[in-house]
Amino acid sequence: MSAANPMEEAAMPASLAGEHVIVVGLGGMGLPLARSLVAEGAVVSVCDLDSGRIEASGLTGAVLDVTDEDAAERVIGALVEASGPPWALCVTAALVGRPADALTTSSADLRVLMEVNYLGTVNVDRAAARHMVAAGRGGRIVNWSSVNAVGGTRGGCAYAPSKAAVESFSQCLALELAEYAVTVNVVRPGSVDTPMINDLPEEAKARDRARIPLGRWGRGPEIAHVVRMLLDPAAAWVTGSIVTVDGGMLAAAGRPSGTSARDLPNLPTEPRSVSTRGERS
Ligand SMILES: NC(=O)c1ccc[n+]([C@@H]2O[C@H](COP(=O)([O-])OP(=O)(O)OC[C@H]3O[C@@H](n4cnc5c(N)ncnc54)[C@H](O)[C@@H]3O)[C@@H](O)[C@H]2O)c1
Repeated sequence: MSAANPMEEAAMPASLAGEHVIVVGLGGMGLPLARSLVAEGAVVSVCDLDSGRIEASGLTGAVLDVTDEDAAERVIGALVEASGPPWALCVTAALVGRPADALTTSSADLRVLMEVNYLGTVNVDRAAARHMVAAGRGGRIVNWSSVNAVGGTRGGCAYAPSKAAVESFSQCLALELAEYAVTVNVVRPGSVDTPMINDLPEEAKARDRARIPLGRWGRGPEIAHVVRMLLDPAAAWVTGSIVTVDGGMLAAAGRPSGTSARDLPNLPTEPRSVSTRGERS
């Protein structure tokens, strides 16, 4: 049987070992991901706005402000010079910002999160995708969204739309890059124990945890595990997908307690017996 895309079978790597993977954003999710990729034998380059994070990681990398389109081209180009065209790109860099209400938040404040979270992802995706297409070996792009992209969140008028835009852009890009066997997927984390949310007031943290059926925040390495599956050459038929990793939070959405029908008022707490003819007793 011939391959629909000849590139897919001709030049695809057998594993991540020896493959160049660029991780953008070295925070609570980016750093464990980058380390786990190194452990798997990948050649990892990292980028962050914060040079201190790059130095502290001990990984090879370059400072990059993802909002600067020219810099994204230049920095990704330099990483390609040093380590070859990337097999994969992961874009974790983002800001959560302050709570933003629709009627009181300035357009300037809304623009900051759109520029970092949405356009920043676009800038880096495009810069890396051009090298993947030119190399002709296929590739993997994983962008970062959030459960906040789904439905409305009070105070989420800046962050949530920026993440919804990442999801939509990623699916459009997936269609464009399919003919080059470059897959584009999104990981959509729930609350993960990283500096991004650790500064919340204790009461807000407790409320947030109570909405998670698995009863705790996620951990950076747990997100990294799912992302590595998407980066694997064998994940060749997964593209345009949004992979929720949230301890069950979205599955429970819409329920006041978020965990069990037994917590809802006016529902029987014990199962009723059902006769063989299907009549409830
Ligand atoms: N932590 C959570 O609970 C959570 C939940 C859902 C989604 N997310 C998303 O997951 C991703 C990773 O989150 P995290 O918890 O690791 O965040 P983090 O705050 O720990 O790390 C974010 C990193 O992005 C970098 N960064 C910020 N602005 C940048 C810019 N302009 N250019 C380059 N780098 C920049 C920061 O320096 C930092 O190292 C983000 O996209 C975030 O929105 C996080």
